[in-house]
Amino acid sequence: MTRPRVLSGVQPTGALHLGNWLGAIRNWVDLQQDHDTFFCVVDLHAITVPHDPARLAEDTLTTAALYLACGIDPARSTVFVQSQVPAHSELCWLLNCVTPLNWLERMIQFKEKAVKQGDQVSAGLLDYPVLMAADILLYDADRVPVGEDQKQHLELARDIAQQRVNARFAPRGADGEPLPVLKVPEPMILPEGARVMSLSDGTSKMSKSDPNEGSRIALLDPPELISRKIKRARTDPTMGLEFGNPERPEADNLLGLYAVLSGRGRAAVASECAEMGWGRFKPLLAEAAVEALRPIQQRYHDLRADPIALEAVLAEGRERAAAVADATLQRVRDALGFLPVKPVSAKTR
Ligand code: AMP
Ligand code: TRP
Repeated sequence: MTRPRVLSGVQPTGALHLGNWLGAIRNWVDLQQDHDTFFCVVDLHAITVPHDPARLAEDTLTTAALYLACGIDPARSTVFVQSQVPAHSELCWLLNCVTPLNWLERMIQFKEKAVKQGDQVSAGLLDYPVLMAADILLYDADRVPVGEDQKQHLELARDIAQQRVNARFAPRGADGEPLPVLKVPEPMILPEGARVMSLSDGTSKMSKSDPNEGSRIALLDPPELISRKIKRARTDPTMGLEFGNPERPEADNLLGLYAVLSGRGRAAVASECAEMGWGRFKPLLAEAAVEALRPIQQRYHDLRADPIALEAVLAEGRERAAAVADATLQRVRDALGFLPVKPVSAKTR
C-alpha cells in the first residue's frame, strides 16, 4: 500500500524558533511514521525579500541541520534544498503563465509584507505563492502540513492545479476521459494549540521577522540567553497562571509553552501553577525550555561537526527529490505542448 505523500518546508531566514518547532517541524517528525515525507529548505523563497548573500548558504545548512536535529530522519524522509532542484524554478515559470495576476494581488501575506517594504517590493514577493505551488505540485503531494497563515497559499496551489492546469490542459486517455496533469493537494492545517505567541506580546505570533530578539526563543539559544529572555518576558499583575482568559494572553501562552516543553500536559500544569506567582513560574519555564532544547542543540552541534555527512544527506535528498520533480515537470511540459527534448544523435555529432 502506498503511503500518502507529504511535502513541507521552512525558509532559511533567521534563526528557527520555538514557533517553527512546535508549530511545524515537530508535526513533521510524527508524520514520518505513516507518510512518504519530503521536507525542503525553501531558499528560493528566502530571496523574495532583501537577503545577505554572505549568509544564505550558511543559513540553508543551519536549517537543514535543525530539521535533522529535531528528529527528521533522512532514512525515512527526503530532505533537500529547493534551489538545488531546478524543476522548482522551471515549474514556477510555467505556472506563472497560467495564473491570473489578480489571484496573487489578493494574497494577504503579500499585502502585509509589501506594506513593510514600500517601493522595494520585488516581483518575486508577488510570485512567492506560485513558487510555493510549484514546490507542492512537483511532488504530487497528498497533504501539506502548514500553519494557519499558509492556508490561503494552499488554496491557491489547489486552484492553479485544478482550474488552470488540469481543466485546461489535461490530455485525454484512451477512453476519452481527461488524465489529470497535476495532483490536487489537501491542506493539513496544524492544530491551533501549536500557535506560539511572542514573549513580548501575547497577542502576536512569535516570528523570525520581529526586530525584537527578546520576543522569541531560537532553537539554538544558549541556556543563559533562554533564561534571560524568559525572565524579561511580558507578564501581568495577576497572581496565578491560567489558560483561556482572554484578558491574559501572556499567561495562556507561557503556561501553554510550559505544558508542551515540560511534557506534562495542560491539565497537570494548570493545577500546578494555578496559585503560583510569576517569580516562581518563570524559572520553571526556563528550565523546561532549556531541557527540551538541550538534546536538539546537542544533535545539531554533532551534525555541524561532520559537514561531509550533512552534505551527503542533502545530495541524496536532492537526487531523490529531482527524480520525482523531473517526472512531474515533464508531464506539465508535454501537456502545455512544448517541443520535446531529443538527445544529440550519433550521426549529427
Ligand atoms: P516561517 O517562520 O514563517 O518560515 O514559518 C515556517 C513554519 O513554521 C510554518 O509552517 C509556520 O506556520 C510555522 N510557524 C511560524 N511561526 C509560528 C508560531 N509562532 N507558532 C506556530 N507555528 C509557527
Ligand atoms: N511559505 C511557507 C511558510 O512561510 C514555506 C513554504 C514554501 C512551504 N514552500 C512550501 C510550505 C511548500 C509548505 C509547502 O511557511
